[in-house]
Amino acid sequence: MPMYEENSIKQPKVLIPEVKIQARIAELAQEINHDYRGKEITAICVLKGSFIFFSDMIRKIDLPMTCEFLGVSSYGNKMVSSGEIKVTLDIHEPLEKKNVILFEDIVDTGLTLSYMLNMLKTRKPASIKTCALLLKPESLKTDIDVDYLGFKVGNEFVVGYGVDFAGKWRGLPYIGYLEHDH
Ligand code: IMP
Repeated sequence: MPMYEENSIKQPKVLIPEVKIQARIAELAQEINHDYRGKEITAICVLKGSFIFFSDMIRKIDLPMTCEFLGVSSYGNKMVSSGEIKVTLDIHEPLEKKNVILFEDIVDTGLTLSYMLNMLKTRKPASIKTCALLLKPESLKTDIDVDYLGFKVGNEFVVGYGVDFAGKWRGLPYIGYLEHDH
């Protein structure tokens, strides 16, 4: 086998295909449209991993809304949660009396979501709910509630649809998983 083939990067395997993601997004957006009818929302995108999920969701949500972006540090190149969360980009608009929905790509241990919720609650929003594309129930270390959930997945490390491994694979249109030799 030629060297370049041995060194070539394997494409992640499909775990959740694009059509399934889009169908679930339409359902989640409908639930949100129903629950918040007559209200205005503040939609918060948790950077970086949620940017594609967020942009698909907000285009299906038919409510008056403002969009905000909250940057939190990820695991770096590691595949396990460090439990250390650092805010890399904060929201400077006041959240007081707002109906906030936090959009997250993956809830793994739940530590990131729990940290963000505690931080945002101190800003006195009228309400705060969470919407996550993926939840890994076996890894949860907090008793966190995801109000709007896309899919439950196992413990596999996933990439694609905004989610990375070491900065790569965010552009895949599907959720894929990496095999262990990556
Ligand atoms: P938690 O604090 O353990 O819940 O971790 C949540 C964050 O870890 C997510 O927002 C992702 O950025 C990252 N993460 C967790 N699992 C995966 C994965 O399988 N692939 C890529 N990133 C992940």
